[in-house]
Amino acid sequence: MHTGSRNRLTPQQVDLFPGDTLFARLARAVCGAGVLPRKELYEAWEVARRVHRRLRGGRVVDLCCGHGLLAQVLLLLDETATGALAVDTRLTDNHLLLADAVAAAWPRLQGRVAFRQARLEDVELFPDDLIVSAHACGDLTDTILTRAIEVGARVAVLPCCQVLRTHGDLDGWLDKALAVDVERAVRLRAAGYQIHTQAIPAEISPKNRLLLASPD
Ligand SMILES: C[S@@+](CC[C@H](N)C(=O)[O-])C[C@H]1O[C@@H](n2cnc3c(N)ncnc32)[C@H](O)[C@@H]1O
Repeated sequence: MHTGSRNRLTPQQVDLFPGDTLFARLARAVCGAGVLPRKELYEAWEVARRVHRRLRGGRVVDLCCGHGLLAQVLLLLDETATGALAVDTRLTDNHLLLADAVAAAWPRLQGRVAFRQARLEDVELFPDDLIVSAHACGDLTDTILTRAIEVGARVAVLPCCQVLRTHGDLDGWLDKALAVDVERAVRLRAAGYQIHTQAIPAEISPKNRLLLASPD
């Protein structure tokens, strides 16, 4: 199966995901909603399980959430999470169809994921929050790191669309986009965070660097 496909998963495809694993059950629920590109399922899953290995508990805040699946998978994996807030400036009806399908499969999620149409700059954050974001384009990822650092919250980002004009001084050695992400990691470390640099499989997305950080 091409895990990086942008084709939507549909109810006709539930048979692609047999078995009783958490992932298979999630994938079937996503198929039932019929709104999510296949790569988004795999991205959310691969990010969430790596985040879950290192960062647990508190409120999950998914910034630039799009469909919001990342927040929901984190709640599924982490029974100690208190709830989730998913924030985006542009929420379409699809996020509700998806959330309803997931909550139908896991009633314990019902009412625990709040969606807010807002700018990430305007959302109140707290030190106990677990801030996550997949593919917040360009400088949005830097704004998310700034907001996390301001309150001392844990943060995990999967950056994309790095803005190369603002970070040029490492690119004599490093690929330009990588230089941007290295600077982000160094910035978090300088702010007193313990960092972990990981990657999700490149066949799901070439924008696959995952940066995890928690205050020391
Ligand atoms: C590339 S999409 C990523 C969506 C989702 N996280 C995913 O992985 O599919 C970036 C999202 O950021 C949202 N966005 C852009 N500027 C924003 C802002 N200032 N605050 C919150 N969301 C914003 C856009 O509406 C869009 O849904």
